[in-house]
Amino acid sequence: MSKPSLILGIETSCDETAVAIYHNERGIIAHQIHSQIEMHAGFGGVVPELASRDHVRKLPGLVTAALEEAGCVSGGITAVAYTMGPGLIGALMVGAAFGRSLAYAWGVPAMAVHHMEAHLMAALLEDDSPDYPFLALLVSGGHTMLVHVSAFGQYALLGESLDDAVGEAFDKTAKLLGLPYPGGPVLAELARSGNDQAYRFSRPMLNRPGLDFSFSGLKTDARRVIDSTVLTEQTKSDIAASFELAVVDTLYQKTKRALAQTGLRDVVVVGGVSANLRLRDMFKSAFSEQGVNVYYPRHAYCTDNGAMVAFAGYHRFKCSDFSPLSIQVKPRCPL
Ligand code: KG4
Ligand code: ZN
Repeated sequence: MSKPSLILGIETSCDETAVAIYHNERGIIAHQIHSQIEMHAGFGGVVPELASRDHVRKLPGLVTAALEEAGCVSGGITAVAYTMGPGLIGALMVGAAFGRSLAYAWGVPAMAVHHMEAHLMAALLEDDSPDYPFLALLVSGGHTMLVHVSAFGQYALLGESLDDAVGEAFDKTAKLLGLPYPGGPVLAELARSGNDQAYRFSRPMLNRPGLDFSFSGLKTDARRVIDSTVLTEQTKSDIAASFELAVVDTLYQKTKRALAQTGLRDVVVVGGVSANLRLRDMFKSAFSEQGVNVYYPRHAYCTDNGAMVAFAGYHRFKCSDFSPLSIQVKPRCPL
């Protein structure tokens, strides 16, 4: 019987310090996360230097906690995966330096993982997940992409945002509404008690062919509506709901177009914005009527987490795609 593989995954690309352990037969056996939301909230957004310093403070303890949770000692880890980008450079450096050093000390390989590939793979951690090939809609704070996934590591970019990412549009609109950081989930919560027909927001780029997105106009729409409205709890909820509907509808229409173009029948929706309940409900109900299967990660694996890094790292490990001793992190890098 061959020895099982246990991959330690480290994620520090932005404002979550996260560690998980993936066991190739049992799945995720440890999952630790520390969110920096409270620390950044007073500043209305992520302060990169504070993020890096907090990763330094929290990461060692989280690794120890993950090893304890998995009931394994350091010697039991087969390889270490860390996020190499895209993200905040200082924050990435912390996870990369720590992860690479741990692997060196333990005498095991290390794998440098692309953050968006990790998000993509998160959907495949679930029991209900598709076979290759499938379409992926990646929606996070920094990216909006439609990707044709033929196999692990084989990606064809079909469309992406030409300006703001969809999570960024949520966050900026939330700020205009005076909502606290992190804007996206707070706006989504407010939208639940709003009337999504109260205001009309544009559906950007739908009248043009192609699969690219543009969300900066929606933010301008939001500013116009907010400036011309007396803001009460109800009107704020109505604006939030109308905005959210426009975003989700735009994502849905483009995804539908991508499915028609590629002939694919399975779509995974991943990244922080895939936690959005309206998006999840609308995609499931609208696509099921068309015989298209929609898959999501569970909520904890939608936003940044260590499980997705450990799992993507395992796939890199299987291809013997190891990181050299000299670490390199990249704030921007294509999938
Ligand atoms: O993937 P993620 O955790 O970090 C990045 O890689 O960027 O995504 C964070 C983004 C933020 O813009 C956040 O506002 C958004 O995901 N987000 C949401 C929701 N939860 C997180 N946007 C809309 N509705 C949500 N429920
Ligand atoms: Zn992310």
